[in-house]
Amino acid sequence: MVRYSVAKEALSADHATMRATPPDIAIVGATGAVGREMLRVLEDRCFPHGRIRLLASERSAGMRLPYAGTDLPVEALHPGKPVEGDLALFAVGADLSRSLAPMTTAAGCTVIDNSSAFRQDPAVPLIIPEVNGAALGGRTEASIIANPNCSTIIALMAVTPLHRAVGIERMVVSTYQAASGAGLPGMEELEQQARDFVAGNPLTTDFWKRPYIFNLFSHDSPIGADGDNQEEQKLISETRRIWNDPAVRVTATCIRVPVLRAHSESINLTLRGALSPAEARTLLERAPGLRVLDDPANNRFPEPRDASGCDDVIVGRIRADRSQDPGKGLNLFVCSDQLRKGAALNAVQIAELVTGHVKEASAAWLSE
Ligand SMILES: NC(=O)c1ccc[n+]([C@@H]2O[C@H](COP(=O)([O-])OP(=O)(O)OC[C@H]3O[C@@H](n4cnc5c(N)ncnc54)[C@H](OP(=O)(O)O)[C@@H]3O)[C@@H](O)[C@H]2O)c1
Repeated sequence: MVRYSVAKEALSADHATMRATPPDIAIVGATGAVGREMLRVLEDRCFPHGRIRLLASERSAGMRLPYAGTDLPVEALHPGKPVEGDLALFAVGADLSRSLAPMTTAAGCTVIDNSSAFRQDPAVPLIIPEVNGAALGGRTEASIIANPNCSTIIALMAVTPLHRAVGIERMVVSTYQAASGAGLPGMEELEQQARDFVAGNPLTTDFWKRPYIFNLFSHDSPIGADGDNQEEQKLISETRRIWNDPAVRVTATCIRVPVLRAHSESINLTLRGALSPAEARTLLERAPGLRVLDDPANNRFPEPRDASGCDDVIVGRIRADRSQDPGKGLNLFVCSDQLRKGAALNAVQIAELVTGHVKEASAAWLSE
């Protein structure tokens, strides 16, 4: 069985320098749903740092965000200038990342980017630390590292332990995605629609362009010529890249549901080697960053409420798909707060690897 292994060369002598001097950190897009969560995660994990700078659009200049018992000012980003510091966590749109990240790394600051801008760039590692941390390699210069799409991170956190054990031949993913996946304005409008409904007013639809409460709809990303929307395409292409397995067959249907935060995914697997649900449960119970919640007697399985605000990806409804050859078909249901593990937490875990400030909780998968 393949063990969890993160490149120890990622913790190279070069990074010892950063260990000795905690990095100056910038959060670019600090006022958004992901940026705010990044600040919380840095605080929660006691990430050692020098100065923290919060950057957003001019609209937010002067705002203050809470951090470690105090509050930090938000500054306006200068789009034509590199971001200063040792480490920049980017939580802005892909166009801004595309223009700002290269000049920032050229100025000596490593960028961990949450947008889709660099995810298919072969020169940019696409990293889920527990899954392919080794792909980070030993980094000797400031560079760009990409965070995968949130739905991809959630699916691969749950499925990779099984893939390592017996191989996945085909994966069918159906997502139930929360409003927070579209950022702060999406969450705010879902809450506003709830207030509108209670007040008996017409629903505010400026952002979602449709009623969202008491409704669900196909993911709001553009649909390509092949009929898949961009979220579905990302699940397919990023899975192949992260697993380094261009042959793996993946298909997805991505749906928005009126949940405030935390995505859910129904995952149907065709396995290369046989695995019973009990064996799968054991593998998942041992995997880092996963929590198994699988209680058929009480109909207790993962729910987005369980995952909201939590770091663990929660997995349950682990059962055989009896429409497939015996031992070869498996169903899972997974919930995870995509603002945490699907975005901010994953980025900070990458930052921990890059700087050598590895959390004790990560030691299990680092030392194996
Ligand atoms: N939400 C998720 O679950 C999730 C998960 C994975 C990846 N991502 C990716 O993470 C990125 C951020 O998403 P989000 O959900 O946090 O979006 P969001 O809530 O809409 O936040 C966007 C952030 O970008 C800033 N911004 C926008 N235009 C700017 C400009 N011209 N100059 C400087 N700052 C600007 C905003 O600042 P103002 O507040 O000043 O406008 C805000 O801080 C996106 O690329 C998204 O695809 C999101």
